[in-house]
Amino acid sequence: MRKIIIDTDPGQDDAIAILLALASPEDIEVLGITAVAGNVPLALTEKNARIVCELAGRPDMPVYAGCDRPLAHRLVTAEHVHGKTGLDGPVLPDPTMPLQDGHAVDFIIDTVRNHPAGTVTLCPLGPLTNIASAINKAPDIIEKIQEIVLMGGAYFEVGNITPAAEFNIYVDPEAAEIVMKSGAKITILPLDVTHKALVTRARNDAFRDIGTPVGIAVAQMTDFFERFDKEKYGSAGAPLHDPTVIAYLINPDLFTGRYINVEIETQSALTRGMTVADWWRVTDRAPNAYFIGDLDADGFFDLLTQRLARL
Ligand code: BDR
Ligand code: CA
Repeated sequence: MRKIIIDTDPGQDDAIAILLALASPEDIEVLGITAVAGNVPLALTEKNARIVCELAGRPDMPVYAGCDRPLAHRLVTAEHVHGKTGLDGPVLPDPTMPLQDGHAVDFIIDTVRNHPAGTVTLCPLGPLTNIASAINKAPDIIEKIQEIVLMGGAYFEVGNITPAAEFNIYVDPEAAEIVMKSGAKITILPLDVTHKALVTRARNDAFRDIGTPVGIAVAQMTDFFERFDKEKYGSAGAPLHDPTVIAYLINPDLFTGRYINVEIETQSALTRGMTVADWWRVTDRAPNAYFIGDLDADGFFDLLTQRLARL
């Protein structure tokens, strides 16, 4: 059983990750959800997080708003992928549950401090601005965090927002660098694995066939989200990036990776936000992350579909 904070910028794939976590109480206790600017601006990501909690029947879930822009640069968003709202596809009602008072960064700090050391896992699914801000403000939390399991970066797949960089890292490379150098235990789910978690037609039908509001909404989200990757990569369907983080927590045996050194490029105009991953161990730089490379895609989709059917 893991206690987690989901730090997120929903995003259809973020939404499905949140739903998977909330559908898995025997494996995961979600202590709260913290929103960050990323796929769309903060006012939409915090709203979308609340929409998703209500869809899951969890209006009691604490949702906090965090940083509205990256540490050092202007915000880059991804409406071209996720649509104007960030959650285009299904028509879902505006949330009535409240946004919590207080800042997401303080919620992260207080939650880690108020739990026994090694019992809170952070799950960043967007740019790392909130997490880096918490580390900067309260470095004492680093050794208390059980693990940071994040979606971001790539090695073999290189980039999706630029030829060299994956979106979450590209939006705030300075934040990513702080996290990677923090010394916390880190697991990374990069594009190398998420581009193997593709919603084929049969997998989308399986979501829709659940027949519940959650199953139908998830099918509509992936219907919308898939057009971008199909056009760009010629792939079979939408890559479910962020749900891999939650699936990894539930069943790490579905995934394989390597413990390696990962550094973030923050300087070069051409490769800013690149995750320089020493997959082949050709440097003597110390390993700082477990970098996932592959997954059992059928096992992942079976788990996801079974769990979503519970909501
Ligand atoms: C990541 O960027 C966002 O568009 C997705 O939600 C995911 O977190 C993939 O590069
Ligand atoms: Ca995301």
